[in-house]
Amino acid sequence: MRKITVPEIKATKTNGRKICLITCYDYTSATIVEKSDIEMILIGDSLGMTMLGYEGTIGVTPDDIIHHGKAVRRGAPTTFIIGDMPFGYYNESVEQGIHTANRFMREINCDAIKLEGGRRSAAVVKGIVEAGIPVCGHIGLTPQNSSNMGGFKVQGKSMNAAEELLADAKAIEEAGAFMIMVEGVPVSVCKYLRDNINIPILGIGAGMECEAQALIMHDMLGFYDWVPKFAKKFANLGPQMLDAFNEYHKEVAEGLFPTPEYSYNTKVEGLE
Ligand code: KIV
Repeated sequence: MRKITVPEIKATKTNGRKICLITCYDYTSATIVEKSDIEMILIGDSLGMTMLGYEGTIGVTPDDIIHHGKAVRRGAPTTFIIGDMPFGYYNESVEQGIHTANRFMREINCDAIKLEGGRRSAAVVKGIVEAGIPVCGHIGLTPQNSSNMGGFKVQGKSMNAAEELLADAKAIEEAGAFMIMVEGVPVSVCKYLRDNINIPILGIGAGMECEAQALIMHDMLGFYDWVPKFAKKFANLGPQMLDAFNEYHKEVAEGLFPTPEYSYNTKVEGLE
């Protein structure tokens, strides 16, 4: 498949095309995403949880994103890749944000970067865009800021909160972002944002009224017992893997594996 471009992503605002994104963190799964119809990959800071076993995203570093991102790029050379800017590596100054974004572009060979925050992040979005790097915003439930939000909670649940989100979305649009992720908001709020900004919305837990959809790979493949309400399990790999591990152990314990089919049966002269 040919890689989708920033102008094609922006055009989804008006042409009715629905596109989607999945997080990805390793070479092997990237090769499978590359073969699929999915247009975009996010090297999410969710790798703190899915790959490194952290409780949240704080603590993820640019080196972590770059380490995983390079592997993903090797597996998915023609998929549009967005690198997720980790907490603490773009909130000190515009220069710090440009520095981290430059590293992602140079070292991962990303197509764009994503960062969290509305009005508070507008200056850094503008600086990175002016440095020539496409930026995807991220508002609503922003995991790096979850402690301020009292946890992973649905955002925008009052008219006042919806207006605040719109002001954030507009600030990110005006700063030059080509798309904005909106996470964990009611369907009506996402529609309100969509109808009042001119860049596509990449929704996650925001319903159908947006141009693009995002999911975390490990949620949608069914690795975990618990997933958030919005994360449909399109497969159930966790239980399937557990069955496979136990079956392997059972066959070894019972002397059923490896049979000649799985062994090198070459006759070695003198040993027979
Ligand atoms: O890091 C991540 O995986 C995200 C999700 C909300 C898609 O930003």
